[in-house]
Amino acid sequence: MKTYYLLILLLILSCKEKPKAQTPVEKAKVEIKQAVIADSAMVVSARAEASKIGAEILKMGGNAFDAVIATNMALALTYPNAGNLAGGGFMVYRTQFGEIGSLDYREKAPIASKKDMYLDKDGNVIPDKSSVGAMSVAVPGTVAGMFAMHEKFGSLPMEVILKPVIELAKKGYIITKHEAEDLVIYKPDFEKVNGETILYSENLKAGDTLKNEALANTLERISKNGRSEFYSGETAKKLVAFLKEKGGIITLKDLDAYEAQWRDPIVFQYKDLNIISMGPPSSGGICLAQILKMVEPFPISEYGHNSEKYIQVLAEAERRAYADRSYYLGDPDFVDNPADSLLSETYLSQRMENFSFENATPSSEIKPGVIIGYESPETTHFSIVDSFGNAVSVTTTLNSSFGSLLFVNELGFFLNNEMDDFSVKPGEPNVYGLVGGQANAIAPQKRMLSSMTPTIVEKDGKLWMVVGTPGGATIITSVAQTILNVYEFEMNMQQAVDAARFHHQWLPDAIRYEFERFSKDLIENLKIKGYPENLETDPIIGKVDAILKLPNGKLEGGADSRGDDSAIGY
Ligand code: GLY
Repeated sequence: MKTYYLLILLLILSCKEKPKAQTPVEKAKVEIKQAVIADSAMVVSARAEASKIGAEILKMGGNAFDAVIATNMALALTYPNAGNLAGGGFMVYRTQFGEIGSLDYREKAPIASKKDMYLDKDGNVIPDKSSVGAMSVAVPGTVAGMFAMHEKFGSLPMEVILKPVIELAKKGYIITKHEAEDLVIYKPDFEKVNGETILYSENLKAGDTLKNEALANTLERISKNGRSEFYSGETAKKLVAFLKEKGGIITLKDLDAYEAQWRDPIVFQYKDLNIISMGPPSSGGICLAQILKMVEPFPISEYGHNSEKYIQVLAEAERRAYADRSYYLGDPDFVDNPADSLLSETYLSQRMENFSFENATPSSEIKPGVIIGYESPETTHFSIVDSFGNAVSVTTTLNSSFGSLLFVNELGFFLNNEMDDFSVKPGEPNVYGLVGGQANAIAPQKRMLSSMTPTIVEKDGKLWMVVGTPGGATIITSVAQTILNVYEFEMNMQQAVDAARFHHQWLPDAIRYEFERFSKDLIENLKIKGYPENLETDPIIGKVDAILKLPNGKLEGGADSRGDDSAIGY
């Protein structure tokens, strides 16, 4: 268990009052953040420096899309676990005029990749090959995504947007307690995988200042030369040479061929909410829609937040959605995702027909065969609303914490290990004991299936909520619970993101609960009904960063108290 989780646990245990299972976070009082209310604009992200830079861009007249680019790059500097230049992500937007859309800048498999590239001659999965080091790196999409966004919606010049990040990289940012603890844990792996010391393997303590001159130089070149700097210029050449030396297969042709894609979002109704979320190659929008549509007929607000009946209904809907996800979904440029069938009201009501409050429906009875691929929890999400009324929801990742663990010293950034989000061996367990479907098998230039669920919610035709989270497979269920927390259980935005979460993903056939935040009686009662407890060691599920538009027009930020997350508005 990571040291900082242990510290949180100690804080929790040191609280005198026993926490109540059915209320928002109220125990680890030191950790809980105050709700932030702003008059007109807000940025909520995983780090205060990134939220501050995004808010500065908004204050100088930039719009939410400009702020996305600045916040994203600031996270690459200050939150290198997941913030990135060499990763990928998804953006869902709603403009001030009510137009909606989404951008896919997910990474792609290199041209030289093969379906069985992570298997040995006997067809067995080679441990770590898809998740650590140069062979795990997929063709990065982030820089292409930022430029696609800028071209379509940007209002400030790229140099102006990147300037505060470049200045901070030169001046240095302050290492937080969480980050210092993470770096101690990862130091041996950084040195082993890179074969040398890297910027982040210096012995950094909380409160130290870290400068990243190499990243400042890379961003300066991008600022001057544009998108091509990353995909065919000096940065591209250095990146390809670095990967070749480390045994990777990405070439200049791969980088040159990369394009971000504008895609139609998934749009669906939950009662009087209109929900806009990410479609394939993310499974997020379709699964979120399936889950919320399956629970819609049940009077869940009467059951009570995190009550036995609420957990049962939601877990059963989750189980069914994740079973479908595993089998049907993949990159839409390669496979047909039957979204209309999966979201039809008739199909979804039939899916819940065999549900009963008496006993759990075993996952083996839901759908035989394939299950989900492994997805790491280390992703990051940010939500932005500007004073014009544009709203943007962005989730981005390197996949695992610090991605492949490879850090390009000369360029100042980590490389993703997104290849591991493919089913490395469809139909059979991968290195993490999980298996995936043919729809998500590896193919050259294919995008790997994701769970990232950047989401925007409208109520009465107006902007209501911007929401998303990291958390791998748990992303979708955390977003669902956050929306329900506000809509059904009348929490404010901060309470809704802090409230205790649970998760079911079909297989393993068990419910994962946030550590120590559900009563033992409740867990026992559910066990008796056939819902075993998933004893996953990570005590937190997701770090939701969200914004709620209040009836008086103000914005309320919810920055998850589980991390260093921060809401800054004005
Ligand atoms: N790498 C995590 C995800 O895309 O869902």
